[in-house]
Amino acid sequence: MFPLKKNNKNEKDAIKVVVAGEEHIKYVDEVNDAIDLASKERGTGIARRTHEYIESKIKEGKAIIAIDGDKFAGFCYIETFGTNKFVANSGLIVPREYRGHGLARRIKQRAFELSRSKFPEAKIFGLTTGLAVMKINSDLGYKPVTFSELTDDEQFWKGCQSCVNYDILQRTSRSKCLCTGMLYDPAWKNGNGKKGKTPFQVFREWVDKRKAEKQALAENKNGKKSE
Ligand SMILES: CC(C)(COP(=O)(O)OP(=O)(O)OC[C@H]1O[C@@H](n2cnc3c(N)ncnc32)[C@H](O)[C@@H]1OP(=O)(O)O)[C@@H](O)C(=O)NCCC(=O)NCCS
Repeated sequence: MFPLKKNNKNEKDAIKVVVAGEEHIKYVDEVNDAIDLASKERGTGIARRTHEYIESKIKEGKAIIAIDGDKFAGFCYIETFGTNKFVANSGLIVPREYRGHGLARRIKQRAFELSRSKFPEAKIFGLTTGLAVMKINSDLGYKPVTFSELTDDEQFWKGCQSCVNYDILQRTSRSKCLCTGMLYDPAWKNGNGKKGKTPFQVFREWVDKRKAEKQALAENKNGKKSE
């Protein structure tokens, strides 16, 4: 099936995006290798999980996989924190040869639906430096938030230890880092959300604000004094 032709709808539709089952455990090493490669390419610490961890997510019905025939074409998993008050959507990966065809969008959509159906009361969140993920999250109804609005569950924040920027997170007492935190709160659907602006407007304003903050943090890290 690959390389995919950019606008061939039939080829794109032939790639299945499903909740992973036992039959997909054979792809776990490929998932981790693809995450490793992307992490090296981007120079950021997308956390590598153990084989056992990814396998457990699949067995618990908490993983989404994209499959092109018998080829692995993408992955993401969900995990709860703070006794099911929060659900993180993590480990999103689309191998290079499958990128740019809307697969991440489909995977994230499916992970969102899975999170909503399994944990309808939970807030859904993620951390990312990637514009693609920020765009997808905004379209799903996430809003950028400060880290104080995310879970305080230590288990979640431990996942940041493998990131090259972990020292920044420590230096700021976990209040900010180079990642943007994004959150979907089901309460917003019930009329408790911020009104007036579209999620994308909120997102754009946040990106502008964060650019200035990130620059200051990066300059601090490199020993330069911020203004
Ligand atoms: C990020 C990643 C998952 C995107 O996968 P993908 O299947 O190519 O993404 P999609 O085709 O679904 O694109 C979704 C949107 O993001 C945009 N996008 C994709 N890659 C982008 C990039 N590098 N920069 C900016 N926007 C990007 C697309 O244009 C699309 O927007 P649109 O629908 O408004 O046109 C993939 O590049 C990847 O696996 N990267 C390495 C791992 C990673 O960064 N994971 C995320 C960790 S938070």
